[in-house]
Amino acid sequence: MIKNTLFFIVLIFVSFSHLIAQNNKCSSVKLHEQRMMEDPSLFSQIQKSEIVTQKWILDHPKTNKSGQIITIPVVVHVVYNTIVENISDAQIFSQIEILNQDFRLKNTNSLPTNHPYYQFTADTEIEFCLAIKDPFGNSTSGITRTKTNEVSFSDADDKVKYGIKGGKDNWDPTKYLNLWVCNLKGDLLGYATFPSELTNYKSSDGVVIRHQTFGNIGTAGSEGFTVNSIGRTATHEIGHWLNLNHIWGDANCGDDLVDDTKPSKTENYDCPTFPFNPNSCSGTGDNGEMFMNYMDYVNDDCMSMFTAGQGLRMRAALNGDRKSLLTSNGCGKAFLNEVIDANSFTIYPNPSKGSFEINTQLKNLETINIEIVNLLGEKLVKFSTIQSFPYQVNLNDLPNGGYFVKMTDGSISLTQKIFISK
Ligand code: ARG
Ligand code: ZN
Ligand code: CA
Repeated sequence: MIKNTLFFIVLIFVSFSHLIAQNNKCSSVKLHEQRMMEDPSLFSQIQKSEIVTQKWILDHPKTNKSGQIITIPVVVHVVYNTIVENISDAQIFSQIEILNQDFRLKNTNSLPTNHPYYQFTADTEIEFCLAIKDPFGNSTSGITRTKTNEVSFSDADDKVKYGIKGGKDNWDPTKYLNLWVCNLKGDLLGYATFPSELTNYKSSDGVVIRHQTFGNIGTAGSEGFTVNSIGRTATHEIGHWLNLNHIWGDANCGDDLVDDTKPSKTENYDCPTFPFNPNSCSGTGDNGEMFMNYMDYVNDDCMSMFTAGQGLRMRAALNGDRKSLLTSNGCGKAFLNEVIDANSFTIYPNPSKGSFEINTQLKNLETINIEIVNLLGEKLVKFSTIQSFPYQVNLNDLPNGGYFVKMTDGSISLTQKIFISK
């Protein structure tokens, strides 16, 4: 235990010491560091969060896919000054589709099987849906449109995130991924907040992307942003929003806290030719940088992968600081999930004489099937397509003993133990 604690303290020191001494970097990281310096409580928040993250990762080997797709409800806030900046619904749909391809390893430029880094490519099992319910439970297109007098926005003052400053307030960030689309100052493509900031900086949680690099149609690629025209700025920024660091760890051969991304000396631009060694931390003689990673700085069409370790780190965030997204009704339903604690379904009484009630506070659940399984894993009874709770179960014929109640909503299942004693 002491050894473990020590390990974490060392790890945390290593993880954050590099962040403090850097200069040239993406504004997501810059803002994160700034807040960390100014706000000691955030610093301890980040440390706590990293311990939980590392523990979750240790408990979940990356070799097996979970089979459980996490879908994140998204709201897109278009904040426009000119009509051109008021991008089309179609451009927004194109961005959601790109995210679903990139995060599920369905991108057309994913590495071929004979590529040395193919083995590291991963389906993160994370998907995105445009919200169909707003925070009040009303129907929505998942898109808000706000006219502004601001000609362009900056990451320094975050105005785009506040109605009173010419922007648009975020929707409850514990239930939605907020994506703002607007014109940005300078050549900044986009920026994001990190999961550990959610508690202390709730109103600024989310991702901002300039409209010229959002999606792959309409204004995407316009005004000189041709090399960022296929929607991967959002892929990169949402990586940060789900706790990923740049692959070079924002330091000379720094640590991104992911074990299957290669250490890299610094960021890469344009599109290097593989194998690319000049920035390598291990010198020549190997395959060099993993520059095609979404968390590097290469051109959109040059990036093509998250690793399994990055997928796991993002899923850890979705089981940690961003856990409440898993019970969001933003896309019309709550999902049964491994991370929903046992209390999300109550069984009463337990032990029982064979008749008991299953209940849940979760609203808008997808249709659920319930199976009663004995301790040998044999299915004994099945109740299909249950749509409302509380649900009364009578198993008076079953002998005394322990059983499992297995609840499934198609892809995901949740199991609880019951005892029958007459
Ligand atoms: N925050 C980074 C920037 O503004 C985003 C880099 C995304 N890279 C990309 N090829 N889309 O520079
Ligand atoms: Zn970045
Ligand atoms: Ca690494």
